[in-house]
Order: sequence, then structure tokens, then C-alpha cells
Amino acid sequence: MEQEKVIVIDFGGQYNQLVARRIRECNVYCEIYSYKTPIDKIKEMHPKGIILTGGPNSCYEEGAPTYSKELFELGIPVLGLCYGAQLMQHILGGKVERAEVQEYGKTPVKVDTASPLFKDVTEDTICWMSHFDYISALAKGFKSVAHTKDCPVAAAECAEKQLYGIQFHPEVLHTPEGPKMIFNFVRNICGCAGTWRMDSFVESQIAAIREKVGDGKVLLALSGGVDSSVLAALLAKAIGKQLTCVFVDHGLLRKNEGDEVEAIFGEKGSFDINFVRVNAQERYYKKLEGVTEPESKRKIIGEEFIRVFEEEAKKIGKVDFLAQGTIYPDVVESGLGGESAVIKSHHNVGGLPDYVDFKEIIEPLRNLFKDEVRKAGLELGLPEFLVYRQPFPGPGLGIRIIGDVTADKVKIVQDADYIYREEVDKAARLYKEENCKDAPWLPNQYFAALTNMRSVGVMGDERTYDYAVALRAVRTIDFMTAEAADIPFEVLQIVMNRIIKEVRGVNRVFYDLTSKPPGTIEFE
Ligand code: XMP
Repeated sequence: MEQEKVIVIDFGGQYNQLVARRIRECNVYCEIYSYKTPIDKIKEMHPKGIILTGGPNSCYEEGAPTYSKELFELGIPVLGLCYGAQLMQHILGGKVERAEVQEYGKTPVKVDTASPLFKDVTEDTICWMSHFDYISALAKGFKSVAHTKDCPVAAAECAEKQLYGIQFHPEVLHTPEGPKMIFNFVRNICGCAGTWRMDSFVESQIAAIREKVGDGKVLLALSGGVDSSVLAALLAKAIGKQLTCVFVDHGLLRKNEGDEVEAIFGEKGSFDINFVRVNAQERYYKKLEGVTEPESKRKIIGEEFIRVFEEEAKKIGKVDFLAQGTIYPDVVESGLGGESAVIKSHHNVGGLPDYVDFKEIIEPLRNLFKDEVRKAGLELGLPEFLVYRQPFPGPGLGIRIIGDVTADKVKIVQDADYIYREEVDKAARLYKEENCKDAPWLPNQYFAALTNMRSVGVMGDERTYDYAVALRAVRTIDFMTAEAADIPFEVLQIVMNRIIKEVRGVNRVFYDLTSKPPGTIEFE
């Protein structure tokens, strides 16, 4: 049976991936396409609904992104958001103008609860506004179904043609009842049954992989990160021993991580696959000797990975498929699907060698968002600590050590980082037990880095001349911007005390307050 689908047409809005995630949270499968996608292609996909995203332009300006009027005549429900709502009006004969009062931020809105879009939504609710244009006259057949103090058309509908527009952003967290509105559209108005679930995804992917791979051999570079681990588990369930995972331990992993990966996927683990661990620590340290410039370190680590992987692949010989842990944001961000794509540049470890002898690449996770990958991982029986692992850069601790990298420095940063994460996790758990919710300061990413600075200290009766460790913790939604997390001071003090006491070679601990921009999340 064909998977029911909603299409998101991307007009360059910064929240386009969020729109898609919210739809998927309603158990409805969706894909993002650029507004440049021809209408015939959209029609061929037989979507049950179409959502037009926001975007930075004014629809009445020359050259602004637009779409064929035919889209609104297909008999398929369409929902426009922000720019999408304005464009719908503009194309269908309504009027969009520069607003005298531009709305930005959390705004009280009154909605017409008789509209199917606002079923079960509170009449007086809050929305997130961000616009400088407004709909000043509605196209024929439309009526306004929501308004704010300064915006007469905060939402519009033409129920007869199943066309809807929302001026605000129901997809962002600041519109608390936004998920209900999206649910109302995709499940009630479009009539999607809600069949997109991770248990059925896993089941259908296992069948699809078996069919595609047949009795062929598959090779996977396993990094121990969430995506490649979930992929390994999925392939293991589908094809068992036909899979070989090569795990390169470059000696720049977090404390115990190499052994954890081996415990799960190696001989003693629960998956029946071929697992090769390459202990390349010394080789990496040698290559990195005396290298201080961060980009050079990244390059060396990436290139060395390819070399090590190539050597292992040669030992294995010809394989039929190379599996890659590409996920949906990678697809969208590399510009294949969306418009806002090109903003973010990629920084993954140097790509994979093209000289490994294989016939085809398979990417079974390429339609999943990160939270879906995690759910699939749990379905496949992977432990929570692995599935909820923080983002970790491919070049690993190599870029969390300022200046040259040595085995001793790696040990220092591993130990300090371990203590830091242990204490933050403990404090967050206690908070949750007491308050039944996540701590408001809980960072999305937190780690220790080793500065290249040594300074004088005193321990016992002795003078020390040791390194300073930097603690980084950020709160972020998209990792493109971030602010320092306000971890309680007493937690930081515990961390500081433990690091000084337990990690040799450290006599000072700093907390990094820098937001991104101007800083980056990594400390390299
Ligand atoms: P920055 O430091 O650029 O980091 O603000 C943004 C996010 O990306 C992660 N990061 C990487 N992830 N390979 C990755 O897979 C890399 O080379 C890499 N460098 C940074 C970083 O941890 C943060 O989550």
C-alpha cells in the first residue's frame, strides 16, 4: 500500500523543517520540496494535502517566489503559513500589503473555533507572529477565521475548496496550540489516517532491505553516533552476517566510548554481524603530532579515516553495497529538497572513499528526522544512552583540545568531560524526579574542552603549573544559533571540585558563557 503523504512546499522559511517535523508528529509522512518543483511532479505524488511554508520575501514584489495557480485547483487541501498564506491570497485575487504595525513575537489571537482548522483550540490563544506584510483584502470565497489586535486576517479559509491560510507560525513552540492546528489540517481536513509510525517503518524497511540486498554483502562505517548505530542495528536485523561494520577508533572518542560500541555491536553483543574494530589511536596521534591549527587537524583526521577505512575494505574485498547513515535533514540541507537548504554548510568527516569496491550506496534512513531515527533505534532494541547521545563531531576530541593533540591531553579531556556529563546528568535527573519535568537549564549539548593554557596554582602545599579545562553548555533548537545554558552554580562547583581532585594535570576550570554567534558551539 502506498504511504499517504503530505507535501511541504518550501519558500525559504527558516522553520520549514520544523513544519515537516510537526506533520510527522501527527503520524503523517511528509516530504519537503522547493517552490521550483514543477506542479506535475507534485501531482504524480498524489499528496493528501499541501502546506506552503513561510519565506523572507514579499509576495507582491517582482521576482518573489511564487507557484502555479493550478495548485489551488487540484481539489487537494492546501494550507499556507505566513508567506504561504499571503501568496495564496495574492495568487487567488486577494491583497497583500506592507503592514503599518509589524507584529513580531508572542501575540494574543482570537480564533473562530467553528473553523475545522481550530477545532479544540482555545478561542483566545497565543501565537508566534513574524511578519511585515499583511492580508488587507481576502480573495473571493474566503473568510477571516482569526484576528489579532493589529492583524484582521490572522487566518483565512475557503472551506468549500479546502484552502486555508495562517499568518502566524503554528509550527514553533511559542504557538502552544500550534500542533493541534497542524493535526486538524493533516488528520481532519486532509483526512490522513496517521499510518506513519516507527514500528511499521522498521518492519517495512527490514523487508525492503532484504529485497534490495538479496544475498549481497553490505559494508558500513560505524562511528558509534546515533545515525550509524541505528543503521547498523536495522541492517543487522535485516541481513545479519551479510553486514560488516568497520568501527575506526581514532583515539579521539569520549571516555569508554570505543568499548561501549564494541559491547553492543561486537562478538559479545546481541547482533549477529561481522564487526571489525580498528584500533588506530597511535596512528592518529602520530599524524597529529605538533599540528595546532584546527582546520588542519580536521583535515588530517578526515583523511586518515578514509585511509584506514580503505585498508579495511581491501581486506574485506568486493562488497555489493555501501550503507550510509544519511538522514532527512542532510538531504534537505544539501539542497536536494528545499530552498533554505544552502545556508548551512556541511562539516562531516571528509566523505567516504570512492575507491572502495562496491556497486551501490544504500541509505535506509534518508527519509527520517533525527527524533524518528532515535525512535527507530529504541524499536530496534538499542540502549537509551546510545540513542539519546549528544551530537559529537566526527573529528572528536581532536578539535576539543586547543593546540597540539597528545595522548595525555586526550586522557585529561576525556576524564574531565566524563565527570562533567555525569554531574549534569545527575542534577537533571534529580530535578526531573522532583519537578516531573526537564530542568529549564538543561543544555542540548555540553562537554569539556582542554584549553592550551597552563597557569600557576596551589594544591596541598605544592605549587602547580597545570592546564585549564573549559566547560561548554548550550541551549539551542537548531544548533545554528545557541546560548550558554545557565547550569546552577552549585552543580558547576561540584564539577569543578571533582575535576581538580580527580583529573591529574588540571588546576583550573572555566565556564564558557559565549553564545553562537559570535562563538561556535564547539571549542576548537
Ligand atoms: P559549531 O561548532 O559549528 O557546531 O557551532 C554546530 C553543531 O555541529 C556539531 N559539529 C559537527 N558534527 N561533524 C559533525 O558531525 C563535525 O565535524 C562537526 N563539527 C561540529 C557540533 O558538535 C554542534 O552540535
